[in-house]
Amino acid sequence: MDIISVKDYYEMSKKTCEYVVDQVNKLDRPVLGLATGSTPEGLYRQLIGQYKEGHVSFNHVTTFNLDEYVGLAADDPNSYRYYMNEKLFNHIDLPEDRAFLPNGDEEDLAKECRDYEMLIRDSGHIDLQILGLGLNGHIGFNEPGTAFDSRTHIVELDASTRQANARFFPTMDDVPEKAITMGIDTIMESKQIVLLVSGEKKADAVHQLVNGEITEEFPASILQKHQNVTVVADKGALSRL
Ligand code: F6R
Repeated sequence: MDIISVKDYYEMSKKTCEYVVDQVNKLDRPVLGLATGSTPEGLYRQLIGQYKEGHVSFNHVTTFNLDEYVGLAADDPNSYRYYMNEKLFNHIDLPEDRAFLPNGDEEDLAKECRDYEMLIRDSGHIDLQILGLGLNGHIGFNEPGTAFDSRTHIVELDASTRQANARFFPTMDDVPEKAITMGIDTIMESKQIVLLVSGEKKADAVHQLVNGEITEEFPASILQKHQNVTVVADKGALSRL
């Protein structure tokens, strides 16, 4: 696991953007894995900037997001589809039909999980997966206790995760209780992983990610076994190493 230490959130976003742009320009048919949440917002702003300045095009790219809430329609401002449209997709030339998220509004969610897996497989697997890190070590919505061999599945969200995400919803009761997420094994099949982490509040999680034992109780710990993981972290996030 490589660790790149940067000054702050802005530098984390900029460094990762340089890396993503390099890969997108280099690969024939790049497949990107994307995350939502606060952490990658700066990266998406930077990518839009690079696109607008003509340094990169996404017209040959396919993307797969990690997760989506169950029960929220695509046009719900709290859905991850909406987030991705607003923060990235509406501002770049990524073909609309190449931007995949799980559909949490499907009736047959088990089928949706299977179909999502198939889509990823048929795309030739993810070349570069962007990850954020949950305070409890979750990646995607794979909460502590998720099997390391899990594939795309439905999860009950941890109370702490619902609490952490409550800032986006009018009240705590509006925060969905379930989500659909790529599994740990699905994520581990990505050829490269870049995990972004910023701020002192994540310092304990980073410490456990890097130095802790590999355990399903801390899902991100499995990344220690991946051949090609880069952690781009700022000083705050690295303050306990
Ligand atoms: C979101 C996701 C989550 C977040 C994690 C950190 O698609 O996969 O695992 O990356 O909850 O969230 P933030 O970035 O808001 O601290």
